[in-house]
Amino acid sequence: MKLEGKVAIVTGGARGNGLAAARCMAEEGADIVIADICADMKTIPYKMSTSEGMEKAVEEIKSMGRKAIGVKCDVRKNPEVKAMVDAAMKEFGKIDILVNNAGNSSMIAIADMEEETWDEVLDTHLKGMYLCCHHVLPHMIEQGSGNVVSISSVGGQRGFGMGGHYCAAKHGIIGLNKSIAMEVADHGIRANVVCPGTVWTDMMKGIAEFFGMDDEEEAKEQFFAGHLKKEPEVSPEDIGKAVCWLVTDDARCITGNMITVDGGWTCQAP
Ligand SMILES: NC(=O)c1ccc[n+]([C@@H]2O[C@H](COP(=O)([O-])OP(=O)(O)OC[C@H]3O[C@@H](n4cnc5c(N)ncnc54)[C@H](O)[C@@H]3O)[C@@H](O)[C@H]2O)c1
Repeated sequence: MKLEGKVAIVTGGARGNGLAAARCMAEEGADIVIADICADMKTIPYKMSTSEGMEKAVEEIKSMGRKAIGVKCDVRKNPEVKAMVDAAMKEFGKIDILVNNAGNSSMIAIADMEEETWDEVLDTHLKGMYLCCHHVLPHMIEQGSGNVVSISSVGGQRGFGMGGHYCAAKHGIIGLNKSIAMEVADHGIRANVVCPGTVWTDMMKGIAEFFGMDDEEEAKEQFFAGHLKKEPEVSPEDIGKAVCWLVTDDARCITGNMITVDGGWTCQAP
């Protein structure tokens, strides 16, 4: 096992890509802190995770023989992030891995977008990454080691109409990651990004529903249209494995960089 004795925080870890990353790291021996908002958001047109969902995720990790806790935490809120990091330190005494995965989206053109819609997406992805790094990095710096992986997107490398706020946040994650990598390299800490293509999680299902796409197969056909390699479709496990590999010593010389798991979407001219 490549992560035995390590402690990992996964934001937005109650389901989807975050839970898959937690599972992969737990399989490699890591203990897990799942941090999730567990409450719906005003401008996001689909449901966020619930406390029950987070508890189920925690039980699943425990059933793998690992230690796990769930902490209700809105990554947009400084006191909640501080309390979550304090809870992780109290439970495990250290933090080796931070996965900034919490995310959401709504679909609306900038001309029609209210400030609150912009804020709920930007603050979750980008301010959330800043706040989590701000509170976790001092512990990693003190111990002289650590790994941060932040989840961007194909939307961090190109635009999506109706997704300007999402793309701005996802581009921002890639830039912020490079700066963080430069700041912490001398402390034995690496920082990288994973960019998923389309993954059929609750987020994508919620967006398809928002557009009134009732037929799941038709919706998937549209959302996966950019993928060069259609089969197998990118799954949460594919994202989890990329995250997990990046935080092992197998990736010890990789920092300030990114892995795109998109079935070849971004290699094509737009
Ligand atoms: N599914 C895709 O196609 C896709 C593609 C590219 C990138 N991503 C990214 O992957 C990450 C995970 O998304 P997913 O597809 O698993 O979606 P998901 O909706 O299944 O999971 C997202 C999780 O984040 C939590 N969350 C949302 N806002 C939060 C906040 N403010 N504070 C704490 N937790 C919060 C939700 O409750 C949920 O548990 C996101 O960053 C998303 O942008 C997804």
